[in-house]
Amino acid sequence: MVSPVRIAPSILSADFARLGEEVRAVDEAGADWIHVDVMDGHFVPNITIGPMVVKALRSHTSKPFDVHLMISPVDSFLDAFAEAGADILTVHPEAGPHIHRTVQRIKSLGKMAGVSLNPGTPAKMLDYLIDAIDLVLIMSVNPGFGGQSFIDSQLRKIEAVRKMIDKSGRQIALEVDGGIDVNTAPRAIAAGADVLVAGTATFKGGPAAYAGNISRLRGT
Ligand code: DX5
Ligand code: ZN
Repeated sequence: MVSPVRIAPSILSADFARLGEEVRAVDEAGADWIHVDVMDGHFVPNITIGPMVVKALRSHTSKPFDVHLMISPVDSFLDAFAEAGADILTVHPEAGPHIHRTVQRIKSLGKMAGVSLNPGTPAKMLDYLIDAIDLVLIMSVNPGFGGQSFIDSQLRKIEAVRKMIDKSGRQIALEVDGGIDVNTAPRAIAAGADVLVAGTATFKGGPAAYAGNISRLRGT
């Protein structure tokens, strides 16, 4: 591991009534990316935000918007999220019929393309995608809610994907999402992660605590 770990606060745990301020606060507190969890009540059992909210937040930070799409079908919304200001668009292979085509579409929109693996989805899913993507997002909880417990079995998957990425020789971010806190962050990093999503662990304690929370997750 050569690259320093990046922290992507998930605004799912922010105060939704003050989202713009919350995004500015985590930006100032040292967030590297802003992780936006998009849920449709169909692919996952929760509903969150759409492209209009992403667009409204865009002027509140210049940090990359890491948009995690938990919606199905996903293809018809790629353009809207790209236009709204997403920098990274991450999709689940189960969210459409042709994951390779979806990745190609994201790239043609000029965005970084991510593929996310649910806890039950094998690393093998990436075999014929690894040469086309910019990011792998390992779900260490089943998607849908913040505040769940880290599933330990996903550490082996992080290790396996780290090997695939290194073998590819390409610049591919390895991001882990779900149940990240001061105890699980070092384990995910040791397994090969270089981006950590953290909702609960970033936003606990309110704005005065964000900088300390983020720095502790980074291990500094
Ligand atoms: C879950 C989301 C996560 C979630 C993480 O479906 O993808 O980004 O918000 O929340 P914490 O960090 O609280 O586990
Ligand atoms: Zn997420």
